[in-house]
Parts: sequence; C-alpha cells; structure tokens
Amino acid sequence: MTETAIRVNKIMAAAVPLIMLIMNLAIIAIVWFGGMRVDAGGMQVGDLMAFIQYAMLIMLSILMGAMLFIMIPRAEVSAARVNEVMDIRSSISDNDAMVDCPPADGKLGVVFKDVTYYYPGAEKPALSHLSFTAHPGETTAVIGGTGAGKSTLLNLIPRFYDPESGSISIDGMDIRKLPLKKLRGMIGYVSQKAVLFTGTVAENIRYGNERATDKEVGEAIRSAQAEDFVSEMACGGDSLISQGGKNLSGGQKQRLAIARALLRKPAVYLLDDCFSALDYKTDAKLRAELEKAANSATVIVAAQRISTILHADQIIVLDEGKVAGTGTHA
Ligand SMILES: Nc1ncnc2c1ncn2[C@@H]1O[C@H](COP(=O)(O)OP(=O)(O)O)[C@@H](O)[C@H]1O
Ligand SMILES: [Mg+2]
Repeated sequence: MTETAIRVNKIMAAAVPLIMLIMNLAIIAIVWFGGMRVDAGGMQVGDLMAFIQYAMLIMLSILMGAMLFIMIPRAEVSAARVNEVMDIRSSISDNDAMVDCPPADGKLGVVFKDVTYYYPGAEKPALSHLSFTAHPGETTAVIGGTGAGKSTLLNLIPRFYDPESGSISIDGMDIRKLPLKKLRGMIGYVSQKAVLFTGTVAENIRYGNERATDKEVGEAIRSAQAEDFVSEMACGGDSLISQGGKNLSGGQKQRLAIARALLRKPAVYLLDDCFSALDYKTDAKLRAELEKAANSATVIVAAQRISTILHADQIIVLDEGKVAGTGTHA
C-alpha cells in the first residue's frame, strides 16, 4: 500500500506540472498563430480570446477524465467496504420471543439480578454477580474509580451488550423480551463522552424528542443550566455547533447532552459521569433541576465525585466490577 501510494503520488507530482506545461504551450501556440491572423486582418481579437477559453475548457475536461480513472477504482473499493459494514447484523436484535408488553402495573424501576458480564475475549468479568434495584422516583448512584465498571453497568440497560448471565428488568419486564425500540424509547441516556453533531443547538437537543415544541426545548436548556452560555452564543439556540461540538467546552457539551435527555422525559435516566466537567455550583443547581424534572422517573447516575451523589437515595460502590457496598451517604 505504502509503495503503491508513493509511486502514484510521484507520477501525479510529475504529471501535474507536465499537464500545466502542455496547457500553457497550447495557449502560446494559439496566441502566436492567432496573433499572425489578427495582424493579417483575418481574425478579431475577441475571437482569439474565445478560442483560448474553449481550448482551456476542453483540456481541463480531458484532465478531469484522466482523474476519473484514479477515482473510480478507489470508490469501488470504498463502496465494497462500506457495504461490508452495513451488512453486519447486530448480535442484539428483536427476536421471536418479543412481547410488545402490556406495561406492568405500576412502576417497578430497574432491577439487576445476579448480572455477570465479560467483554468479548476478556479474562476477568467487567461486572460480576451484580444485584440491586433502582426504584422509581429515586436516584441510584454508582460510584467507583476509573475502570470499576460504571459505564459498563449503564450500557447494559439499553442493551448495548447482553449480560453473560443474570437478568435485568425494567418495570417488571425482562429487557430481552422488550422490542429494542420500545426499550430504548423508555431511556434517556447521557454518555460519558457527550456526543454532539454538526447543526444548531436546538437541532442537537431535538434528537431527544423530534416533536418537542420550541418552548419545551427552551425549558430543557434552562433546566440543564445551559441557558447562560446558549444565550451568549451569536444566534442563541440557532447557533451552529461544529462536528463533535469542537467549539464548546467539555462542561457546555455535557449540559447540552443532558438537555437532550431531559427533553425526552423518559422513564429511566442513565447519566454516565456527565457532571464531571461542571463546577460545583452548576453541578448542584443542575441536580436540583434534575430532581424536579425526573420526579417519578428512575435515575441512575454514575460518578466519581462524591459531592455529585451525596444526596442520592441509594449509593452503590463498585470496585473491579463487584459491589463493595450499598447504602446512603451517611
Ligand atoms: N469496549 C470494551 N472492550 C473491552 N473491555 C472494556 C471495554 N470497555 C471497558 N472495558 C473494561 O471494562 C472495565 C470497566 O470499564 P468501564 O465500565 O468503562 O469503567 P468506568 O466507567 O467505571 O470507568 C475496565 O477494566 C475496562 O478496561
Ligand atoms: Mg465510565
């Protein structure tokens, strides 16, 4: 690959000046012979200029045609690779056992029963024998060092992975029996690394709920403590966010991602360490707002900073994928 690429680039490096030389020589020739004809009175200067333009157009087109021979094979290979990826079937999909369930009576929250999960090829389980219940209307916090398995735990709930053994249920329904669309529709997930897309602030937040009104979007921005910096941006909610949110700070990205989850008004909030880049004051205000917005929802928060989860109704301390203790802060 390297050798071929170097060879192709060398040829191109030589070819471009050569083509330019030919093109310019052609112009000289046209001006030379054309000049003589103009001198003899057989041709207008304007005709000569037009002739030069036409000649350039034709030569450029030939050049483009040559470029096509380089691009077509490349496009062909790329298309094949893209199709290969598109054709991969996810190992997690709706299977026959799906029940488009009648919602269980009342809300039962999220229940983990003896869940063990290995990442493919890993020797040690990322989570082992995890059991707990996250009750609706309460905040369940998961705390632990980096690599303790907090993100893994949260990722199991929307079925990004399926556990090796044990079961997870939402409102009394095993998540493997729920259609994926329905399951994920119940969840407002804020990933550890806030994901934003090219587009406006409002468009990014609307990914949470496409049918939301402008007023609801405004409310979500306010609740997520993002109003200050959004209103300071050039066009407020219509300001552009560049790819991956490169023109925002870490804390600003996190707040927009939270606004997106809030707009959804889900039954289950999964917040993966999304307060880490906020200052303590904003963190506290945001938590108060979240409590209001999520009054009867099940909230599961992963965090590393103790202050973020002081007030949680239940705290689970994870260490190397095992529960080291549960209880309240006291
Ligand atoms: N995609 C992955 N593939 C393999 N191992 C992973 C993957 N993601 C995380 N792990 C491993 O799982 C463990 C728990 O990771 P994670 O849940 O991200 O921790 P936390 O969010 O608590 O920092 C770590 O030991 C990590 O190396
Ligand atoms: Mg994590």
